Amino acid sequence: MAAPGPRIRAFTWADLPALARLRAEPEGHEGDPAPDSMQRLRRDLSDPALDAERDVLLAFKGDALVGQATLNVEPAIDRIVLGMTAHRKHGPRGVQAALARGAAARARDLGLARLQVDVPEADEVLQRLLTRLRFGHVRTHLHLRRPPLARVPVEVRPPNERTRLATQQDAPAIAALQNAAFTGSWGFSPNTPEHIAYRAFERAPDPPDAIVLVERDDVLVAYCWTRPGIGGAPGFIGMVGTHPALQGQGLGTVATAAGVNHLVDHGSREIDITVDSENPPAIRVYERLGFRRAWRALWYERRFSGAPRRA
Ligand SMILES: CC(C)(COP(=O)(O)OP(=O)(O)OC[C@H]1O[C@@H](n2cnc3c(N)ncnc32)[C@H](O)[C@@H]1OP(=O)(O)O)[C@@H](O)C(=O)NCCC(=O)NCCS
Repeated sequence: MAAPGPRIRAFTWADLPALARLRAEPEGHEGDPAPDSMQRLRRDLSDPALDAERDVLLAFKGDALVGQATLNVEPAIDRIVLGMTAHRKHGPRGVQAALARGAAARARDLGLARLQVDVPEADEVLQRLLTRLRFGHVRTHLHLRRPPLARVPVEVRPPNERTRLATQQDAPAIAALQNAAFTGSWGFSPNTPEHIAYRAFERAPDPPDAIVLVERDDVLVAYCWTRPGIGGAPGFIGMVGTHPALQGQGLGTVATAAGVNHLVDHGSREIDITVDSENPPAIRVYERLGFRRAWRALWYERRFSGAPRRA
């Protein structure tokens, strides 16, 4: 007889230490999680866009936590994005299948049309599993890495253009610019000033994120969101945007160059960035600044139709 599948239930805050252990050591080392990994997880789960006790699913075999799924619920674009961690010692494919089924049930309950998950191109086993669960490949993202290189020149045009680091007061302007720049981009869900303020300024990771702004005549026209790597890990550029009316004038290059320099100045040797394979302007900007293609991620999607079971 086949072994019973894992049991799935929603996260509660009492699960925090076990979840921190799983996230830090998915290969299954024993012992207490490092205090900073608990703090980091608590901050991540306190994001105002997430309802942790609804949107995080846990998988158990017996009493052992063997996997977790985070469901980023985005009603504005009718989708859930699924992120999964599975304990390598406990048959991770069965755990991933159970978590993906749990996420599909949630999408149907919420009446959302799409469940999406991104998978490294090399993980063919997970791709086959998702295909069996009626997901299909819909999009490809390129993961680019900038090798250890020097700073780059930032070509702002004085006297009316300048770059500076954002403060909390800039959150509404950043949200407005981000929503204007990205509207219509595949997979973009609009953000509120509260989301931006939490992620950039209140979450307070160590070291903190930094958003480089480009202003023209004191008006925000482009930005680049940077995240220094922790413990020698590569730095990361999360988002770059130029106001739609001003694209093609070099502002995206200025913003990204200033972001790269900020990370280099704060100790990041390598820098990672992810870009949609169908976004030639962004790829052009990043490759010009020394980023090179490292690997690809495939987005898989399962679609649902019919009326929601619940409002
Ligand atoms: C990506 C983005 C930030 C670039 O900003 P920008 O201010 O237009 O950037 P620049 O003017 O510095 O450079 C754009 C480059 O793309 C090129 N480009 C524009 N359309 C292109 C196309 N269809 N194919 C190839 N290259 C293209 C431009 O010619 C320019 O290159 P060049 O200077 O060698 O001529 C901007 O397009 C944007 O905000 N897009 C929406 C948000 C987004 O997708 N962000 C990136 C993902 S995180």
